[in-house]
Amino acid sequence: MFDISGKVAFVTGASKGLGKVFALALGRAGAKLCILSRTETDLRQTERELKSEACDCISYIVDITDEQEVENAVAGCVEKYGRIDILVNNAATARINKPAEETSLDEWKHVIDTNINGSFICAKAVGKVMVKQKSGKIINMSSISGKIINKGVHGGSYDVSKQAIDGMTRALSSEWAQYGINVNAIAPGYFMTDPNIMFFEKDPDFYKTALELIPAGKMGQPEDLVGTLLYLASDASDYVHGAIIPVDGGYMIW
Ligand SMILES: NC(=O)c1ccc[n+]([C@@H]2O[C@H](COP(=O)([O-])OP(=O)(O)OC[C@H]3O[C@@H](n4cnc5c(N)ncnc54)[C@H](OP(=O)(O)O)[C@@H]3O)[C@@H](O)[C@H]2O)c1
Repeated sequence: MFDISGKVAFVTGASKGLGKVFALALGRAGAKLCILSRTETDLRQTERELKSEACDCISYIVDITDEQEVENAVAGCVEKYGRIDILVNNAATARINKPAEETSLDEWKHVIDTNINGSFICAKAVGKVMVKQKSGKIINMSSISGKIINKGVHGGSYDVSKQAIDGMTRALSSEWAQYGINVNAIAPGYFMTDPNIMFFEKDPDFYKTALELIPAGKMGQPEDLVGTLLYLASDASDYVHGAIIPVDGGYMIW
């Protein structure tokens, strides 16, 4: 039921952070990978690590806000593997930690454009393939910020973008469930990747505030998300549509 060996997975933002952990986890579970991001050196490093573990992998340097670049990568993936079974719609830009009144419109638009429009562009391009196949698993990356506003940090555009990801997850799910496509999302709490490490180092009070609000009493490690990822990527979640699954150490309980 949880077996994904031989499936083709398309992972955005796989050059570092959670996306890299996801790509490696899917590869170790037997999936063939197509990985994307903008930074060539980091992306090729992920590709090398996958290949060193005997995983099939191709990579594309892509900005997810560029529809043509995303479509080219989708076409390349289909040409190489013949299909796409899993989309991990993970790439996003981090929050801009500035009070709303000091945030420029360009800064606001950058987050909105990358996180909402970029995610839609990827879902649409891969979704077209899945609609034809009449099967597929789309896993969007939301956040606790899709439901709550994080205490101790600014960045409303990020919170709004993740609320939109929750909405997009339900909207696409309602359209594509009829084609055997499951569109769901993971809503992580605080995980120790570059953006959070930077925020916490700059502002130890924010780290303290965030930690106090987590019932589990600890920050998440990227590997804590892998079980939910594999569940949503596999047949085990075939009757799950439009769900947004928190993996947050209980942050949203309080
Ligand atoms: N870490 C957390 O605690 C946490 C919590 C909740 C939700 N999330 C969500 O989880 C996902 C991954 O977060 P993370 O912490 O791993 O972030 P990260 O370490 O900053 O990684 C972001 C990834 O997205 C790529 N990316 C950014 N903008 C892109 C663009 N325009 N086109 C293509 N790729 C782009 C980056 O690669 P390049 O720079 O090479 O393009 C990188 O691979 C995001 O959706 C984030 O919002 C994270």
